[in-house]
Amino acid sequence: MVKILLDCDPGLDDALAILLAHGDPNIELVAVTCVGGNVALANTTRNALQLGEYLGFENIPIAAGAGEPLVRAAEHASHVHGTEGMGSVSLPDPSTAAADIHAVDLIIETLRSQPGTVHLVATGPLTNIALALQKEPAIVEWAASFVIMGGSFTRGNTTPAAEFNIYADPEAAAVTFAAGWDVVMVGLDLTLQAIATPEVVDRMRLLGRLGDELVVPLSTFWNDDKNPEWNGQAVHDVVAVAYVTHPEFFSSRPAHVEVETAGEFTSGMTVVDFRADSHNATVPTRLDVDAFWEYVFESYARIQLP
Ligand code: BDR
Ligand code: CA
Repeated sequence: MVKILLDCDPGLDDALAILLAHGDPNIELVAVTCVGGNVALANTTRNALQLGEYLGFENIPIAAGAGEPLVRAAEHASHVHGTEGMGSVSLPDPSTAAADIHAVDLIIETLRSQPGTVHLVATGPLTNIALALQKEPAIVEWAASFVIMGGSFTRGNTTPAAEFNIYADPEAAAVTFAAGWDVVMVGLDLTLQAIATPEVVDRMRLLGRLGDELVVPLSTFWNDDKNPEWNGQAVHDVVAVAYVTHPEFFSSRPAHVEVETAGEFTSGMTVVDFRADSHNATVPTRLDVDAFWEYVFESYARIQLP
């Protein structure tokens, strides 16, 4: 059984990542921590709570964390994820509040209590993770692994240079990459291989209520009409969860990654050196796309709605 703590900002693809963690019987989702990112913290936390109730989470704490980046003003992506963060999906109001603990403390306590067993996966801006590192640097030793969706080695999506999660809080990303652990950087170059193409969406329609109410609307809400090669939404954050359970689906290279925090045109860029002698990151570069979707569909198909 693979234990995962997911730090996220749901978010269309964050929600799809939660579904994967819930549907794969080999994953035990031990906690969900929320950060401001795609939309404001109140919305990302509410979305996680709504999703947890919709899926029938039992005993999985959901905690709210940082609403603002370490030093900058918050930047959201509601033009992609909708004003409340879940696109056209509207779930009932949550009947319970978030856990009575700050996300940063929940991350620290969860990793401290089970050293070496919990994989930390971050699919939003890295503010909660940086704050946890500043408060308790030993989480670097306690995490079984640390996987992010963020960054890229070729291009950005928020600016030509920067991917959204890093762009939104580059100072937090810089703290995170400098912490002395191996950061598995599942970046854009990789996640843009995991596209919900029309064929994939047709298959999602066969998932019944889960497909109609969640998977299809979450995977088709956004359309980049400025991109002439558009063939569907990438399910970025789902790929980071898949890395934990199926690293064999990926070709990866060691690298040294620095985060640009000062560039006039490049703020939030991940500068990835594959030729460096010392490494702080593992960077997946190629995905076995068919194996990935087989795994995702197999996991989604197991989900029994309450
Ligand atoms: C990342 O940014 C967010 O908009 C998505 O949820 C994903 O985590 C992709 O750049
Ligand atoms: Ca996200």
